[in-house]
Amino acid sequence: MSERRILVTSALPYANGPIHIGHLVEYIQTDIWVRFQKLRGHRCIYLCADDTHGTAIMKSARQRGISERAFIAEIQSEHERDFHGFHIEFDNYGSTDSPHNRKLCDQIWQALQDKGLIVQRQVTEFLDATTGESLPDRFVTGSCPKCQAENQYGDNCDKCGASYTATDLINPISTVSDTPPVLGKQDHFFVEIEAMHAFLDAWTQDENHLQVEVANYLKGHFLHEPLRDWDVSRPAPYFGFPIPGTDEKHYWYVWFDAPIGYMASTQEWCDRTGEEFDTWWRDDQTEIHHFIGKDIQYFHCLFWPAMLKAANYSLPTRVHIHGFLTVGGEKMSKSKGTFVKASTYLKHLDPNYLRYYYASKLGPHVDDLDMNLDELINRVNADLVGKFVNLGSRTAKFVAECGLSSRYPDDGGLFEYAAQSGNEIAQAYEHGDYNRAMRLIMSLADRANPYVESAEPWKLKKDPDQLDRLQDVCTVALNLFRQLAIYLSPVLPELAEKVSNLLGDPLVDWQQSQSPLLGTPVARFQHMLKRVDDKDINLMIEESKEREDEDRSSEHSADSGEHLLAEPLADECTIDDFVNVDLRVARVLEAADVPEANKLLKLTLSLGGEEKRTVFAGIKQAYQPEVLVGQLVIMVANLKPRKMKFGVSEGMILAAGLGEKEVFMLTVHDGASPGQRIH
Ligand code: MSP
Ligand code: ZN
Repeated sequence: MSERRILVTSALPYANGPIHIGHLVEYIQTDIWVRFQKLRGHRCIYLCADDTHGTAIMKSARQRGISERAFIAEIQSEHERDFHGFHIEFDNYGSTDSPHNRKLCDQIWQALQDKGLIVQRQVTEFLDATTGESLPDRFVTGSCPKCQAENQYGDNCDKCGASYTATDLINPISTVSDTPPVLGKQDHFFVEIEAMHAFLDAWTQDENHLQVEVANYLKGHFLHEPLRDWDVSRPAPYFGFPIPGTDEKHYWYVWFDAPIGYMASTQEWCDRTGEEFDTWWRDDQTEIHHFIGKDIQYFHCLFWPAMLKAANYSLPTRVHIHGFLTVGGEKMSKSKGTFVKASTYLKHLDPNYLRYYYASKLGPHVDDLDMNLDELINRVNADLVGKFVNLGSRTAKFVAECGLSSRYPDDGGLFEYAAQSGNEIAQAYEHGDYNRAMRLIMSLADRANPYVESAEPWKLKKDPDQLDRLQDVCTVALNLFRQLAIYLSPVLPELAEKVSNLLGDPLVDWQQSQSPLLGTPVARFQHMLKRVDDKDINLMIEESKEREDEDRSSEHSADSGEHLLAEPLADECTIDDFVNVDLRVARVLEAADVPEANKLLKLTLSLGGEEKRTVFAGIKQAYQPEVLVGQLVIMVANLKPRKMKFGVSEGMILAAGLGEKEVFMLTVHDGASPGQRIH
């Protein structure tokens, strides 16, 4: 295995909000990959930085009444603390607001100009009527041009997700002066990226560089037609770097200097370690790997390679793109408490849980990843604690005095088998298929545990004639345990370190999995990992719940669920109260729109035989009438009929959800018959 030189990055988190469990999908994933490469003996460095420029940050700082630099410094220290808390270990963590970054920006800008790729053009945009200053998107609010939702920013709508330009807003207002803005013309700089179309076609379609689905997406959405010029400047005022030669009237748009931050962070690392910058960015023996989320692939797969190419730097070897985190099948939601900040998580739960759980879910594709808290509890408790930790905890104590045997005993081929599996596990890690790696490792644990169970060391312990056998059994068990710890160490470095301490053998190299450790003392077993307690999960969720509009600062991954206030439980009732409500299975015979009503459908329900009921149900926005016909629903059959504008409603049907589009009607499996009572 020849040594590779590998530079790895994660996307630079915006310095306008805290790290949350969605971000961690990326940082944990990258950290695992880097630790894996290092374990395999490669030279690998992991670089990141805070992404500090742009209007969102400018605005947050203004709201807080502090300078942008003070604001980003505070956020950066929180980010670094959170990453550390999750055992995410960078070789350098920089900031895009650094002198190195500015210098590199100047230089790459110059290269783009030298290649004739920069043009200047006028753009019509909003100015504040009172000051005449140019208004960035985030400094204008108004109603969404698409759904009319009020109080939306000038770039995209919180409610319907539409993106547009500020000048499309209905009734725009400048947030600087609370007056309507005026239109003005401004010069902007553009990169004529179309000049690099052929290069980008070739680069993106090479399967080594991108996942196939990404290559297809880029082809289908961007590269099938001429690329539009990229608007890469913003007029002052802007928190960022001024474009040279423009008298500080123009600044680079944040997405210009952000990826250059990868290089600036490398430069900082080089300064510290005496390494040569060009070895990492201008040497085709060096691999460059970017890990990013699917929302920013456009920047990393089109603009970024174009910039690198124009400035004569190495191109990324591969961009690894992942999907988004959902919780319980839905977007993270502040009102439901599933928008969990890294710092809140760490107050209640062990970071190893999340590292292992994410690893067990991550595959090589761009699919979204759904976090299911019951599944997390189960995987951690059943696999990690039940299969892995237990293997060590129930055998180490028996050899605390005598240590490991000096010759490896006959184990029926268990060690050899697990050693052989190393290659397959390594392949899975290499290709980002951590889910497969975890399954392979746990299947090894499934072979090891029965060995211990049938050898029953706890019984051998009681028989003075069996002490040699006891030592052998524990030597086997602990060597299998050590192998698993090596294979898991990219995911669980803290546990691997505890195993290292237990066996007095630092686990630092993948190859250590290939030969057993013998004749060494075994330390006292230190507690490794406790089972997940669902009480702690509940506390974390409770603490994460926020009321409406409490915090819009991290709108980049904002949830749309802020109106979904969880309902408090109703007052206690007796069984009698409950049985007073006569719930019945009913079949929908007809479902008709009530054209005059916004929310109502008119349903004709059968309760079996000739029994029919008419019910007006407020589910129009959630269901097309025709899909309801024939379904079995549950109705309150003894509800006093109620006269409504459009007729008499003779009951209600049961549904979950919050009304409007969020209605989930209860149905019954086929086989039940209309008229049956629900108990
Ligand atoms: N600042 C830019 C990146 C600049 S890179 C030169 C940015 N920052 S971010 O803070 O919004 O996101 C950082 C990374 O976290 C991105 O790769 C993004 O895709 C990822 N994620 C943010 N929210 C996420 C989820 N909910 N789920 C999974 N990944 C998420 O984008
Ligand atoms: Zn909208």
